[in-house]
Amino acid sequence: MPNHKHVYKNEVLQYDRMISKQPNLLPHIEKIVAVEGLDIIDIGAGTGRLTIPLAQTAKSVLALDQSPEMLSLIATRLDQLGLSNWETQVADHRTIPVEDNQVDLVVAGWSLCYLASSNQSEWKENLSQMIAEIKRVLRPNGYLLIFENMGTGSLQPRPPAYLTSYFEALDQSYHFNHSLIRTDYTFSDHEEALTLTNFFFEDEIVKRISSEEWVQVPEWAGMWWKQFK
Ligand SMILES: C[S@@+](CC[C@H](N)C(=O)[O-])C[C@H]1O[C@@H](n2cnc3c(N)ncnc32)[C@H](O)[C@@H]1O
Repeated sequence: MPNHKHVYKNEVLQYDRMISKQPNLLPHIEKIVAVEGLDIIDIGAGTGRLTIPLAQTAKSVLALDQSPEMLSLIATRLDQLGLSNWETQVADHRTIPVEDNQVDLVVAGWSLCYLASSNQSEWKENLSQMIAEIKRVLRPNGYLLIFENMGTGSLQPRPPAYLTSYFEALDQSYHFNHSLIRTDYTFSDHEEALTLTNFFFEDEIVKRISSEEWVQVPEWAGMWWKQFK
């Protein structure tokens, strides 16, 4: 399994090229909550897959991530768009650098998983701390919307084993709503499919992409959301 911390420091552009092959997720967010005029935090914002489309409609977006290298690409892109309703800040998910009751929506794309994976001995405590922190910064009736991996290179939803306890906790302990979406990658050819996946995914997935000669790589995502009263 490639070292993702290394990727988020040293292979920022490669990561961004990979996710640019996936669909825009704003329509899925808008099905849950209309973002126009909202104050939003994107935690684990990465290179801005969610921050950048959100900033074009929202009142404000604060992009948080532990990787300054990832955040730097967001800042470049938002500057290029001429927007000024955003900020970036280095932060860990467990300590959001914002006062209580400040935002209407928190989004988290493929990022809480790093602390909530059952590979982490303290995953339950981490999850509880992250949710409490998010709840603290949300205004009454604010929303939390989480995207996570339900299977890359799989024609059926098949989440990685190390995430199933986390997903069960979201459903059963925290009572989130849940739906499934497809986030397939559409590469220009099979060569590009291999180049833009082998630095990030496990060998087993890359072997499947290779043996199937995929140009379009199937992927499932779960979307969990909850309104906090
Ligand atoms: C798979 S990327 C997702 C980025 C972006 N949300 C997206 O949808 O493309 C995961 C991001 O979470 C960040 N991350 C992982 N663990 C974190 C933590 N404990 N605190 C803050 N950011 C974290 C990484 O630095 C990385 O940018």
